Amino acid sequence: MAILDILVYPDSRLRTRAEPVDRLDPSIVKLIDDMAETMYAAPGIGLAATQVNVHKRVVVIDISETKDQLQAFVNPVLVGSGDQIETDEGCLSVPGAIVPVWRFSEVHVSALDQSGQPFEIHASGLLSICIQHEVDHLDGKVFVDYLSQLKRDRIRKRLVREFTSSEHSIPQKSENSIAS
Ligand code: NI
Repeated sequence: MAILDILVYPDSRLRTRAEPVDRLDPSIVKLIDDMAETMYAAPGIGLAATQVNVHKRVVVIDISETKDQLQAFVNPVLVGSGDQIETDEGCLSVPGAIVPVWRFSEVHVSALDQSGQPFEIHASGLLSICIQHEVDHLDGKVFVDYLSQLKRDRIRKRLVREFTSSEHSIPQKSENSIAS
């Protein structure tokens, strides 16, 4: 396993729309392992392949306190339901920013697991929010897109100042343990 570099906003590669996985071959299994290790090390509760510059529709999530409930979603398809709720979110690609985002309170997800088996879940609460956040990444969206231009520019300028002077990856621990 390996810890991968996480792209930081406003890196334009975060805007890439990820392609579906055709075949769950060993390279995808390794990607899932590496993404899980990267997510746990950050630490975060979710990571989309887009964030590690792999443009395949793969997401890993673990919202458990014990960090032993890894869930992999390959080619996830979402249908939102329930109310619209506003929650403060963090993102490993936007370090230091906590942003209120409106999402569906519930979501129905169909996907493949890490062994290529199809499964479906109905998620609510934090898991629902996290899945919607990660699938946005796969579609080239970053949660700052939901902010006003003024607030988005402020975050962009800060991150450009902090990160692009030397390199684009995040070498340090995230301050926000519920980032994804
Ligand atoms: Ni994120």
